Order: sequence, then C-alpha cells, then structure tokens
Amino acid sequence: MSGSETPIGNSIPLLTPYKLGNFNLSHRIVLAPLTRQRSYNSIPQPHAILYYSQRTTNGGLLIAEASEISDTAKGYQDMPGIYTKEQVEAWKPIVDAVHAKGGIFFCQIWHGGRVSNSVFQPNGQAPISCTDKPLTPQILTNGVDVAQYTPPRRLRTDEIPGIVNDFRLAARNAIEAGFDGVEIHGANGYIIDQFLKDQVNDRTDQYGGSLENRCRFALEIVEAVVNEIGADKVGIRLSPFADYMESGDSNPNALGLYLVQSLNKYGILYCHVIEPRMKLQDEIAECSDSLAPMRKAFKGTFIAAGGYTREDGNKAIAENRADLIAYGRLFLANPDLPRRFELKAPLNKYNRETFYISDPVLGYTDYSFLETA
Ligand SMILES: Cc1cc2nc3c(=O)[nH]c(=O)nc-3n(C[C@H](O)[C@H](O)[C@H](O)COP(=O)(O)O)c2cc1C
Repeated sequence: MSGSETPIGNSIPLLTPYKLGNFNLSHRIVLAPLTRQRSYNSIPQPHAILYYSQRTTNGGLLIAEASEISDTAKGYQDMPGIYTKEQVEAWKPIVDAVHAKGGIFFCQIWHGGRVSNSVFQPNGQAPISCTDKPLTPQILTNGVDVAQYTPPRRLRTDEIPGIVNDFRLAARNAIEAGFDGVEIHGANGYIIDQFLKDQVNDRTDQYGGSLENRCRFALEIVEAVVNEIGADKVGIRLSPFADYMESGDSNPNALGLYLVQSLNKYGILYCHVIEPRMKLQDEIAECSDSLAPMRKAFKGTFIAAGGYTREDGNKAIAENRADLIAYGRLFLANPDLPRRFELKAPLNKYNRETFYISDPVLGYTDYSFLETA
C-alpha cells in the first residue's frame, strides 16, 4: 500500500497546501533530486517506475535525479540521460506512473563539467569546463572508494553557446517525455557551479572575472530554457555556500543575491537552494550564514534543502523562510515520508552503502512503508 491515498491536510505547516504556479500542491514536502545510478547505459529503466511512484502523493512535487543533457555531461556510471529519443521514450512510463497518482514531476537537467573522467567521455576525450584546473581525487560517500578525475579542457568562448543549446534541447525533451517542468542543476560543483564560483572560474573572457561575467553562463541557460518551454515550467537549483567538488566562492552572499535578483527578470517558477549549513554534501556544520537574503529578494517560489527534519522543516515553513522543503536522504529511505510526517511516525534509517549501487531493488524500492492498521 503506497499511503498516497491518505488525504493530507491539517495544521502541520509542511502539510498545508501551496500553489506552485499552475500546480496545486497538497503539501510542501518535496522529493529532492537523488542520483541513484540505476539507469544502465544512461537509459532510464522500468524499475524507476516503482521507485518514483512509491514516493508520489496526490499533489506532491517530485524532482527527478540529475539527467545528462548530452554525451559530454556524463561523470558517473548509469545516470539517466535526456538527450536521445530512446531516453525520452524510456522516461515516458516513469512520468506517466507519477502522474497517474497525482504527482507533479520535474526533471533535473545536468552537466557534470570537470567532475568526470575521460572514460565517460565521447572518444575518451577530456571533460569540459570553464577551466583547465584539475579536481583532486575525491573519496566517495562509502568512505572507501576514490573517484579519479581527468584534467578538464577549458571551453573556448565560441563553444559555450553549444552547451547552452544542449540545456535548451534537454528541456524540450523533458517536456516531450511528459515532465511538468525542469530544474536546471546549477549547484554542487557541476558545470554551472564551476562557472559561478571564483575558486574554479579563472577565465578572462566575458564568462569569467566579475560576478556578472561568472553568472553569464547560468543566466544564458535560464534564458534559453525559459524561451523554449516557458518560465512557468522552469526552476533552478543553487548552492552558493557549498564547497562540493572544490567549488567554493569567496563571497557566497553576494553571489546568491546577484543570482536571485537576475533570475527575477525571467520570472521563473522556483529557486531551490541548499542551506549554507551543508558546506559538504552530507554533513551539517555550524554556520552563521542564512538563506534569508536570497529568500527575501527572490520573487518566485523558494525551496530550501539540506539536513531538514520534520521539526525544522515545519519551523522553516511556519516562519516563512521557505515555501517548500526538499528532503533527500529521509525521502530516499521513507517512500511514504509525507504520511509519516503527518502521523509523526518513526522513520526508516537510510543505508549509505546502497545509495549508488546498481541493484534494481536493494536500497531502492525495498524501503518499507508504514503498516496500515
Ligand atoms: C544518494 C544521493 C544522491 C543525490 N543526487 C543528487 C542529484 O542528482 N542532484 C542534486 O541536485 N542533488 C543530489 N543530491 C543532494 C540532495 O538532493 C540533497 O540536497 C542532500 O542530500 C541534502 O539533503 P538531505 O539532508 O535532505 O538529504 C544527492 C544526495 C544523495 C544522498
């Protein structure tokens, strides 16, 4: 039993309805984008139908895992793509299953940039980025394996419109697959974040140097995607405060504020921001920074993510610090998270070791639902 049939709605702030543009959300608990590396050879697989539909509620918002926009986007094994006809066709039954249960489903469109290795690249070429600065090997979340990255090739200025166009086409494909909209992945150290951050971007052309120049690539992508599918179907994810994949910035407050002020001009649906306390991918750190200035400056819907529990999610909504809260690991391990929050029920614990394995069931669709009395 999925739990999605249970009507949700009472005075718990996370369980109050919200109007997200044209979509009527029945609650404010969003499935955060979660890479699961089970899309063999970049093709979404039938087992994702069950995975996503388990996490669907009537009127709930789901953001699909990061999806490659082109053959140079790839940086990890078995992430899904959204750039070939076969991939678009393979997404359709997954999207249909979410819609059949009343969910609203956005596709996260992604390019890894220098977070890649030549083994993933066409013809074994070097990954592309704003820079040729290499990334040092990183220990993976299992704490044992180390990912090696091939030094990237710095994109020529005249190649950049081609990457912007790949984002545009991916957005078109996502709509063709049936998604309700797209989330541009501008966070977590991947290609857009590489351009945004002054610790990575060492360009001397119009895409580097000043804050305005470093944000140009991101904003050109937003503009292209908005023109292609409409601003009411476009969100973006940002992590100005994070240092993932060696992509920190010397002035994240200024970066975040400039970005949201610029985004206002395009009237996009939402901005989804990682909390400053998540300096590293999955660790909460003490931190005096806050998303409040970005929240205040942004005119659209504001989604916050990173380390949220039931209690502080309710508090953030009650205090109007965000409109919606995205849950990653808790939703991964609790397919019926909204129902558990409603009942204040105990939560399943997530198992880090099965986050990224290729098994189509284990650690994927076998997390239990609450027993129904
Ligand atoms: C297994 C796993 C996969 C993730 N994949 C993505 C992804 O594809 N795109 C993305 O923007 N963030 C990704 N993240 C980050 C999450 O969306 C989220 O921001 C992070 O887990 C912190 O939120 P939480 O404390 O609620 O888990 C991933 C995190 C985990 C644990």
